[in-house]
Amino acid sequence: AVEKTFLMVKPDGVQRGLIGEIVQRFERKGFQLVGAKLMHISRELAEQHYSEHKEKPFFGELVDFITSGPVFAMVWQGENVIQIARDMMGKTNPADAAPGTIRGDYGVQVSMNVIHGSDSKESAEREINLFFKPEELLEYTRDI
Ligand code: CMP
Repeated sequence: AVEKTFLMVKPDGVQRGLIGEIVQRFERKGFQLVGAKLMHISRELAEQHYSEHKEKPFFGELVDFITSGPVFAMVWQGENVIQIARDMMGKTNPADAAPGTIRGDYGVQVSMNVIHGSDSKESAEREINLFFKPEELLEYTRDI
């Protein structure tokens, strides 16, 4: 089914100039970018976004890091994009991520793992609504 997912280049990826490289991978795969913005996440938004990790020992570190500099927030659309984007990102810990995946190719540490992507249909919907207003998502035709 055609789905939408929320992907975000984290502060380390923006810092290291990887936005273009990451966008290119999803464009070449055949997915469609329907929303994007460079933004600085507030602590409040970070805590909402990562609310499922509230009790984890690394929660404070996670919020500190994601608010430490600009992120590039994106909404991508396509057939099975939620799972395929997860596969393209690779395992959460870059140390375990296969070569050829984004984290496998560019990541080093589990906290600075370059990119975030929604892990289910429910979190995609929740995260898209948290970061984007409906009018910030565009509909247009694209020839692959
Ligand atoms: P993300 O997909 O953004 O969702 C939760 C994040 O928590 C995850 O990527 C990691 O960057 C981060 N994370 C997971 N485990 C740890 C850990 N042990 N220490 C620090 N950060 C972690």
